[in-house]
Amino acid sequence: MDYNYIIKNFKTPLYIFNIDELVRRTRYLKAFFKCGLVYAVKANTFIPKEIESVVERFEICSNGEFEICNKLGIDHSKMVISGVYKDYDSIENMISNYDIGKYTIESLNQFELLEELSSKYNKEIHALIRLTSNNQFGVSEEDFKYILKNKKNIIVDGVEYFSGTQKTSLKKINKEIDHLCEFINSVEEEFNIQLNEIEYGPGFSIQYFQNEEFDEENYFKELNEAINKLRHKKLYLEAGRSIAASCGTYLTKVVDMKNNKNGNHVILDGGINHLVYYGQTMAMRLPYFDVFPKKDNKKEIYTLYGSLCTVNDVIIKSVETQELEIGDLFIFKNVGAYSSTEGISLFLSRELPGIILYKNKEFIKVRDNLKTSEINYPNYEK
Ligand SMILES: Cc1ncc(COP(=O)(O)O)c(C=O)c1O
Repeated sequence: MDYNYIIKNFKTPLYIFNIDELVRRTRYLKAFFKCGLVYAVKANTFIPKEIESVVERFEICSNGEFEICNKLGIDHSKMVISGVYKDYDSIENMISNYDIGKYTIESLNQFELLEELSSKYNKEIHALIRLTSNNQFGVSEEDFKYILKNKKNIIVDGVEYFSGTQKTSLKKINKEIDHLCEFINSVEEEFNIQLNEIEYGPGFSIQYFQNEEFDEENYFKELNEAINKLRHKKLYLEAGRSIAASCGTYLTKVVDMKNNKNGNHVILDGGINHLVYYGQTMAMRLPYFDVFPKKDNKKEIYTLYGSLCTVNDVIIKSVETQELEIGDLFIFKNVGAYSSTEGISLFLSRELPGIILYKNKEFIKVRDNLKTSEINYPNYEK
């Protein structure tokens, strides 16, 4: 990527999502696991259109995500309307105006809502019942059976099960899959039905930090073996970060530097409001990054801060890197998932970064830097 061009033409802080990398990664996952792929839109709402031809489905968890995908022209039959809270008006709009592929049922109230609207609009609804992994998402095994016993209009195509996120323990995953298989068998026997589909989210892990050992190839091989037990059904794997993380870089410039008895402090024009990997542990860990322009000068130890005026806004503590000067560009990698939406981006009324898609060696601006002062402003005229 031509960083001279980027510096000249775009303002920092800035996200760049490399679509060639995104498509490569998505195709790789599909070829490796040889099953349907479901992209969890929450991971990055700027990229769904770019992978529409590669993935089978989009997991949409709010009306906002629906509006984005709808405006992008995503095929409605590829949409799975999911989420822990489905409000009446949004679901009514979806059911009455569109032919949505599927809905998940995540509670008895959602079940009643979908039954009611399906009957009101005389529309066939295909659903997956989400079985809980013992948290606030999905239904218990008892409620799962209640839904099968009491459904009228809804066609239950199968089960959705999401294991968690950043999962590395294949022992746990194997145990969960065994239990899921047992449960499906018992339900099929008891109700004399076939659940044709399994949509399974293994919580694919991503290595975000240097000096951490995660052998993705081996993990994928073992995960692939574990999911063999699910392949007698139509199998779809849900992924967010594993699809989106590698395509993203976050660019932020050195805007000030100072030195005191605690060392060299470097202030960047970005910060933890835009840069989220997984949890708020970054200052203690070392993300992958480059500095531009590269210089072979002597090295120094620096602590990197954002510009949020809070002691929490520390990006990396005591990192050794080339001698820095104001204007140098930090390029943080693997930020394609969650970073652009998960940060505390309204804090201190800093601008939201611009967003660029990089595709076939071209830069496509899909969002300008946005002022948050307008959102944080008390408008007495309202
Ligand atoms: C149901 C469901 N599927 C998929 C995902 C995506 O998870 P990840 O980004 O870890 O792949 C999530 C994340 O919260 C989820 O709740």
